[in-house]
Amino acid sequence: MELDPWKISDISNYEQLFNFGMRSFSPFHSHYSDNRYMRRGIIFGHRDFEKIDRAISRKEPFIMMTGLMPSGRFHFGHKMVADEIVWFQGKGARVYIAIADIESYLMRGVPLDIAKKIALEEYIANYIALGLDPERSHFWFQSSYRPEYYRLSDMAAQEITLNELRAIYGDLTPSKIISVLKQVSDILHAQLPELEGKLPTVVPVGADQDPHIRLTRDIASRLSRTYDFELPSATFHRFMEGLQGGKMSSSDQKSYIALTESPESAKKKVMSAKTGGRETADEQRRLGGVPEQCVVYKLYYYHLVDDDREMERIYNECKTGAILCGECKRRCASMLEDFLQNHQEKMRAARDTAKQVISEQRSEFGGEK
Ligand code: TRP
Ligand code: SF4
Repeated sequence: MELDPWKISDISNYEQLFNFGMRSFSPFHSHYSDNRYMRRGIIFGHRDFEKIDRAISRKEPFIMMTGLMPSGRFHFGHKMVADEIVWFQGKGARVYIAIADIESYLMRGVPLDIAKKIALEEYIANYIALGLDPERSHFWFQSSYRPEYYRLSDMAAQEITLNELRAIYGDLTPSKIISVLKQVSDILHAQLPELEGKLPTVVPVGADQDPHIRLTRDIASRLSRTYDFELPSATFHRFMEGLQGGKMSSSDQKSYIALTESPESAKKKVMSAKTGGRETADEQRRLGGVPEQCVVYKLYYYHLVDDDREMERIYNECKTGAILCGECKRRCASMLEDFLQNHQEKMRAARDTAKQVISEQRSEFGGEK
């Protein structure tokens, strides 16, 4: 069964990335059939995932780390990373999550107190409502954390040249350089002897974050005079398209549905989303729709429908013209409504938990409360 409708249209883009040492995730797709993103090829690439695969199957310790940049609302694009974190935690990962408040200040101008509020009430609360166990997760703010973290970030500077950075990031600013060096330490510092010690580490990210991963791996190997790191592994997922086509971005209201959005507003957005429907109903009955180009279809595929057989039914209904977009969107909106109601119910308790856990951890790990 060919469930992935983007393989044909997208494969050239995503495959280009494989030239830089990223490899196809396909050897693992069937192995992890309990993970929708892996099973369906939404996670399409990786670096060094063998190390993580081995740790999982032998029940050996490994680290899952990621970072969130608190700016804007938590939407269905962000949900992918959150689901991946929760899944890795279920597989035994020691979870490390950076709150990249310095990055969001330097790159987006978000004041630190606002970033903190967004991180807690939007990101961390949503992670918890999506199933993260915060007691077994380690959080930190880039702006206030333990000295070893800053030392590592500073010492990493010695290992790279401006030209290398320029080749990866284009035009440089002091802000960019500092953000990049923070991120290197975000990814590596859990392996310091003061924390977990040397361990395989997986970073689940969108395909666009690969430059950071490559750079961090290079720096990690060059730091070997001073430190002893396992080169970090990564998984790469495809993007969730914006509702009107294009990118799903928190700076464009119409492109996303937030997980805290009212079901009515979410419904409206689905009803006006870009579909793969034909000009007229007649034509659609005759030719069928194009699910490969339909954002509504992607909502089902990435988020709303876990059962592969049901997914196949929806695909065929569309392809054969058995269903028209109006009806299909109403069904999608109603699934979405159920999801949001259920999720937002959990969010109430999750917000309090987030605040409590973070303030406990802040004092424990070196930051002020
Ligand atoms: N740069 C990431 C973003 O733009 C956030 C981030 C900070 C991050 N530190 C990280 C991601 C470490 C992965 C690993 O969203
Ligand atoms: Fe998309 Fe549904 Fe229309 Fe097919 S019928 S193009 S899946 S909205």
